[in-house]
Amino acid sequence: MKRKQLIIIGTGLSACQLAYNLLNDYDVIMLSKGDKQTGNTVKAQGGIACVMGQHDHLDSHIHDTLMAGSFLNDVAQVEKLIKNAPNVMQSLIQSGFIFDQVVGQFILGKEGAHQHRRILHAGGDQTGKRLTCHYHQLLQDKVTIIEQTTAVDLLKQEGRCVGVRTVNHSLERQDYFADAVVLATGGYAGIFQHHSNDPLMTGDGIAIGYRAGAAVKDLEFIQFHPTLAIGHQQRFLISEAVRGEGARLVNGRGEYIMADHPLKDLAPRDVVSQVLYTRNQQGEATYLDIRSVKGFQRRFPQITDLLHENSIDIKQGLIPVQPGAHFTMGGLAVNEQHETTVPHLYAIGEVAATGVHGANRLASNSLLEALVFGKDLADVLRNKPPMSPGTYVPEDLPMKVQPLDMSIEALKQANETYLGVVRSQTALKQFEKELRALPITTRGAIDHPTKTLERYTSENMLLVSQLVLQAALNRKESIGAHKLTNKEKQAVRQ
Ligand code: SIN
Repeated sequence: MKRKQLIIIGTGLSACQLAYNLLNDYDVIMLSKGDKQTGNTVKAQGGIACVMGQHDHLDSHIHDTLMAGSFLNDVAQVEKLIKNAPNVMQSLIQSGFIFDQVVGQFILGKEGAHQHRRILHAGGDQTGKRLTCHYHQLLQDKVTIIEQTTAVDLLKQEGRCVGVRTVNHSLERQDYFADAVVLATGGYAGIFQHHSNDPLMTGDGIAIGYRAGAAVKDLEFIQFHPTLAIGHQQRFLISEAVRGEGARLVNGRGEYIMADHPLKDLAPRDVVSQVLYTRNQQGEATYLDIRSVKGFQRRFPQITDLLHENSIDIKQGLIPVQPGAHFTMGGLAVNEQHETTVPHLYAIGEVAATGVHGANRLASNSLLEALVFGKDLADVLRNKPPMSPGTYVPEDLPMKVQPLDMSIEALKQANETYLGVVRSQTALKQFEKELRALPITTRGAIDHPTKTLERYTSENMLLVSQLVLQAALNRKESIGAHKLTNKEKQAVRQ
């Protein structure tokens, strides 16, 4: 009997977890825009939040998640995530994954807005790298991974998603058809000038899903991480776990910046980011002082390497930092079965808006989301009947290709200015006028024989920027990661 076919667009943790749990049920094809290791999973320095300690409790993890999300979270999704976490972690360990331990006990890290030490990690700050290697080994020769292939348009038949059109680096087109199509393409922090993500995280899944008719949700909620190190060539993440081990934020005079907050340096990310952003805007440099972190190089080997590569002196102990886009809470709206509003099109991981993170995500809940919801979607798809083949009628392609009139660099800069850490409704309206003048395709296919890969990415980034802007304009109150200027906050209250 012919086996069911599954296409997963993406090769990060949620994609891998889904594929691994469906090996007996589907022939799986995974598509990667870069190579199979490209993406955010491999860069993840934090770890996985999970209740494992004797003094911790599921209710406490649920409470911290809701608190970080300003209680805009979908409570049922939060409970599903956190209550399933310990079992999913046990399965991961049984599959051979090793978390850092000392004398048989897990070493549990602490990050912002967690009441307890509950972050499992591997290789210190290399959890993402180790998870990537682990899953790619588990999947080796069991799934088909097609690299350097960009998904351009979703293919629909009688309203349901039946496949995807792709373009490779030689600009050759290929259509793939399947019983189910899953978007696991990651988030959209890459639409900003300064971010911690892989540069390929440009919201492509949201753009192709939206053009195919899928609804979006919560796009205004973008988490800015307080500590991106300012290197010569690049910005890069300094994990919050470093502050969890005692590092402190200071200004150029060595004054302690977070002294007045009850949670000090481990206050929620949006709070710390706003404090640093305001100081940076006033011309004050901000630093992470790591001198009190014991055994820094042993605990944070990946960050140590990044600091060396960027000629930042660890012995001196002061890392110049600024906030930058890190995680995006919004995405394609999905139901509890992870299905978008387009039948047979599913979304998991950062591209999906399940409501689990509310207005801001709790630290180290995202690798957890990938593992728990990746398995959950596998349980959903396992029992789906095969889809009867029909006749696919290709959509008419757009005839003309208009110039976009805005470079990617200019767009990233504009997003940083208008959609950054602190926003102003008045300025957002100005940005709306600028974007309105551009030819942005919001519905239907964009494939065209004359287009380059860069062009597809630019179109996706423009569409996602426009959708984020619209969501930010619609959200009138300052909440969670959507922060309005103090003046506008007051105006809303009056
Ligand atoms: C970090 O290590 O600070 C990032 C972890 C996360 O975003 O969950």
